[in-house]
Amino acid sequence: MADAVGSPQTGIPWWHGAVGYEIYIRSFADSDGDGIGDLVGARARLAHLAWLGVDAVWVTPFFPSPGFDHGYDVSDYRDVDPRHGTLSDFDAFSATAHDLGLKVVVDIVPNHTSHLHRWFAEARKSRDSAFRDYYLWHDPAPTGGPPNNWVSHFGGPAWTLDEASGQYYCHLFLPQQPDLNWRNEDVRAEFDEILRFWLDRGVDGFRIDVAHGLLKDPLFRDNPRIRVADSAADNWGVFFSFEHCYDLDQDDTVDIYRRWHRLVEPYGAALIGEVALDDPVRMARYIGGGALDSAFFLQPPWMGWEPAALLDAIRGMHDREPNRVSWAIDNHDHSRSVTRFGGGARGARRSLAVTTLISCLGGIPFLYQGQELGIGDGTIAPDDLADPIATRNEGALGRDGARTPMPWEPGPGNGFTAGTPWLRADDRPHAETVAGQMSIPDAPIHQYRALLGTRRAHPELGAGPAAWLDTGSAEMAVIRRGSMLVVANLSADYATITTGSPPISPVFSSAKDPMPTAAGSVRVPPETTVVFATPHRADTQEGPAHLVDTETRV
Ligand code: NOJ
Repeated sequence: MADAVGSPQTGIPWWHGAVGYEIYIRSFADSDGDGIGDLVGARARLAHLAWLGVDAVWVTPFFPSPGFDHGYDVSDYRDVDPRHGTLSDFDAFSATAHDLGLKVVVDIVPNHTSHLHRWFAEARKSRDSAFRDYYLWHDPAPTGGPPNNWVSHFGGPAWTLDEASGQYYCHLFLPQQPDLNWRNEDVRAEFDEILRFWLDRGVDGFRIDVAHGLLKDPLFRDNPRIRVADSAADNWGVFFSFEHCYDLDQDDTVDIYRRWHRLVEPYGAALIGEVALDDPVRMARYIGGGALDSAFFLQPPWMGWEPAALLDAIRGMHDREPNRVSWAIDNHDHSRSVTRFGGGARGARRSLAVTTLISCLGGIPFLYQGQELGIGDGTIAPDDLADPIATRNEGALGRDGARTPMPWEPGPGNGFTAGTPWLRADDRPHAETVAGQMSIPDAPIHQYRALLGTRRAHPELGAGPAAWLDTGSAEMAVIRRGSMLVVANLSADYATITTGSPPISPVFSSAKDPMPTAAGSVRVPPETTVVFATPHRADTQEGPAHLVDTETRV
C-alpha cells in the first residue's frame, strides 16, 4: 500500500487517499466457461488491477440469488452463488487481493431480499408467521388496489398483492425483491450477524445498496406528485414525477449506520453507502458523525455532456463534503460515460477529463471495470437485453450496455469466457481490449494508470484543503490543492492560465494535445484536465491561488 493511502500504522483509515474499482462480477472474468463471471476468474485478474494502481475493489453481489435483478435479489447473505463460486473461492480471492495490497469491499443488499429468501418464504405462509414482520405488509386501500401511490424504480407500483393473505407487500424494485422492515429489531439483529460473518472472513468494507431507502414512512403516506409523467411505460419518467419524501431518505435511516459503524469499527472496515440523492445537504447527513465513512454521489453517472452542470454538481457536493465522498462517473447502472459524453474518441477524451478531475478530490474516486479502456457501451441485439428495466418497460434499453463482458483479449468471447456470455454482445475490437492496449503506448489503459500514479505520487491531491479558484467560466474549474493545481477545462476552447513566475509543470494531462506555453502562461487544451505541480509550499497562503487571474479564450 502506498504512503498516500491510510494504514493501521498511521491510524488513518485505509480508504483515505484510496482509489476504488468496481468489479461487476457477472461480467468480469469467467473461469469455467458457463458464460457467467466468477470469483476464480476475478482472482486471476486482480494483478491487472494492482498494475493499474487501484487500492480497493468493490465486488457486486455474488451471493446465492435467483437473478431477477442479476444478484441484487439475495436469497442467502452468507454464501456464494454456485455460478460465482464457493466460500473458499471467496477466501482465495480475498487472500490474493490482500497479497497484492488491494482492499476488498463487498456489496451488501439490506433494503430487500429475494422473494425466495427463507425469511420471505416463511413470512408469506401466514399473517402469524414469526417472519411476517420482517417485511412491509399492508391491507389494500379502502377502495381496493395498492395501499398508496409509491412506485417501483423499475416500473409499476411498489406493491404486489399476496393473494393467499390478501395483503400487499412493498418492493421499491421488482416484485421479486420484497423490502425488509427495518423498524423491526429482529431485522437489524440479523444484519449485525451478516456483517460480522463477512468481517470475520476479512473483508475491508461494505458497499451498501440503496442505503438511503431502508426506512419508510411509518404511516405509508402518499408521495407528493410533482408532475404528470409523459408515459406510464417509462419507469424513470414515472419515478421522477414524484417527490420521494415518504419512501426514501427518512431522517432516522442514519441511525442504522451509526449502529453499523460501531460494529465495523473494531475491524477497521469501511461503510460506503449508495445514497442516491442529488441534494448535497441530504447526502452529507449520511457521511461522518459516526455513520457512513463515505457515500457515492450519483448525480454525475446520470448526466450527459453538460460541462457546466457537471462541474456545478461536483463542486456543490465537494463544497458540502470535501473529504469523504465516493466519486464515480461510471457504474453498472448507467450507460458508460464515453457513450453519454458523445461516444468514440471524443467521448473517451471527455470521460478522462472528468475522471481526472474527480481523481484530484478528497474521498474515494471509483473506476468501473473497463473504464480504463476508454470504451463506450457494448452492442446488444434488442432480443438479448436482459436487464429487468429493459424487459419491463417497452422501448427502454436498460443498463445492459454498461454490463457487457470485460474485454480482456481480442477474439471470440474477448477472453472473458470460453463459453457463451450470459449477456450476448458484439466482441470488442483489438484496440478496446486490455491485451490490445498494453502494446499501444498512448492507449487509455496507460493514461488511466498514469493518472492513478499521479494521485499516488502527490498525496495532496487526495487529502487536505482544496480551494476552488474563480475562473470566470462555468465550464472550467481550477482547484488548488496544497502545492498542486488542477485545471479542468471542459469547454470547447483552449483556456489560457496565467501562471506567473516561476513556471509550473504539468504532471498529468488527460489529453495529449500540445500545451503551448509562453512566458508566464500556459494554454490548456479544450475538454482536458491538467494537473500541475507548482514550486509553492503547501503550508503557506502563498502559492498557486494567484496563478489564475485571467482566463482567455482564443
Ligand atoms: C442499486 C444497484 O446498483 C442496482 O444494480 C440494483 O438494481 C438496485 N440497487 C436494487 O438493488
